[in-house]
Amino acid sequence: MSTKAPALQSHLQSLGYVGLRAGNVEDWASYGTRLLGMQIVDKSAATLSLRMDDRRQRVIVSADGGEGIGFLGFEVADAKALDVLAAHLEHHGVKVARGVRALADERHVADLIVFHDPAGNRIEVFHGQEIASDAFQPGRSISGFRTGPLGMGHVVLTAERADDVIPFYRDVLGFRLSDFFVKPVKIHFFHLNQRHHTIGILETGRNGIHHMMVEVNFLDDVGQGYDIAQMTPDLVKQTLGRHINDHVTSFYTQNPSNFMVEYGWGGRSIDIDNWTPKEVVEGPSLWGHERLWLPPEGRTQARELRMGLAREGLRIPLDVMEGNHAIAPGTCVLWDQIGEARKRGYV
Ligand SMILES: [Fe+2]
Repeated sequence: MSTKAPALQSHLQSLGYVGLRAGNVEDWASYGTRLLGMQIVDKSAATLSLRMDDRRQRVIVSADGGEGIGFLGFEVADAKALDVLAAHLEHHGVKVARGVRALADERHVADLIVFHDPAGNRIEVFHGQEIASDAFQPGRSISGFRTGPLGMGHVVLTAERADDVIPFYRDVLGFRLSDFFVKPVKIHFFHLNQRHHTIGILETGRNGIHHMMVEVNFLDDVGQGYDIAQMTPDLVKQTLGRHINDHVTSFYTQNPSNFMVEYGWGGRSIDIDNWTPKEVVEGPSLWGHERLWLPPEGRTQARELRMGLAREGLRIPLDVMEGNHAIAPGTCVLWDQIGEARKRGYV
């Protein structure tokens, strides 16, 4: 009998939902709506669910007194894909539990499976997420979240040892490497779809979550959120800035689950069939993103990297969507101006 693993035909498509742990739901209700612009769909003393788009729920908060993530929910196409994935995981020695009806109802999905990654994070894979019957009503006036086939955003997990976790995501779950940094931190970014990364794995010596990113359709939604965030002392943990690898312009705040939410705009769409992963050696940010949570030496190192890029005149074109930009009259010198970014492989 062959022991060769069956080919994985049930590719995960996107991040569909996240479960968060918190001390209470009230803090999340306020943060999720007034800053992030999500919509409350259900709220009890112990649970809260938030909407970002046409899906019934995207963020599920449990007030169990804990912090960080409770689970990550990834989507597959249908029941067959879920069965194929369950068999594939079991072949790799992963203990898989079939979601009971009550859990599927709680998650508002047709069916799901549950297992854990090597760091102990609870992973759920589902199909058939419920579509809401009414239109999304943002918690503050924003244009909307960029989701659809890209999923609800990305998460960056922290790992005691990245090499204990990466093979599971890459070789068992089928995530594809986008790029990675070795310095100033060891972090690997993986994609499932055109979003540059759906997960990142950052080696910190401790298993947990570093941040979750949600993306809005207009840059002004980010700027207006930045104004709101700055009204609360110490809420901003990373100032407005632009990432060099996924091109996102964003800022980071501390959320009530005691990790950060990155609130961004302008993520690049990658060509997943013609993508070559590479090491990024020029810092995580093109400009900004002052990491207020880092010790002084780390901030100095990050700042020197950015100043170096600024001196070299590195610039990357914006990634826009139909409807959120207008072409200005005048002579476009773009292709001369981005020569350096192209040479270094950032566009
Ligand atoms: Fe991020």
